[in-house]
Amino acid sequence: MKKTSLLFGAAITGLLFFQATQKPEAESHPELLGLGPKLPTEVKAVVEQKCYGCHNEEAKNDKGKEKLDWDKFEDSKKSKQFATMSKISEVLEEGEMPPKKFLEFKPEGALTDEEKTILLDWSTRKKKNGE
Ligand code: HEC
Repeated sequence: MKKTSLLFGAAITGLLFFQATQKPEAESHPELLGLGPKLPTEVKAVVEQKCYGCHNEEAKNDKGKEKLDWDKFEDSKKSKQFATMSKISEVLEEGEMPPKKFLEFKPEGALTDEEKTILLDWSTRKKKNGE
């Protein structure tokens, strides 16, 4: 084999190796791509049923959407997402959301234990990982 093709081969091998070592890391750590967590499907399902109505771009209550707008969540910076998640875990632990006044006339809006666990597991993941 000629020297040049050997060099070429080495360069290709190097490139492949580089890609192989880089790609999985970015895939398993989405935060490396600049975006924080995407909402897992089961979290999304709970949010859509129990939180979204008051926390979306079109929501009538300005205070609620100002503090949490699910329409913006997935496109926010990861630091913002983590801050939101930690707020969410706080309000859930305190039993503040959905608001009590709202539950008085719409008791079916309350989170079931299972739903609460899904949201809490998700929103506290960061803490569990010790970050
Ligand atoms: C009936 C409307 C309504 C529903 C349903 C609702 N929220 Fe809220 N939420 C509000 C309002 C209003 C505020 C602003 C409260 C305030 O600042 O006094 C708020 C504030 C928040 C905040 C910010 C708290 C803070 O102090 O910064 C978080 C986080 C939150 N809600 C999470 C949730 C989650 C999670 C759910 C679903 C389990 C949910 N909310 C369901 C109306 C709602």
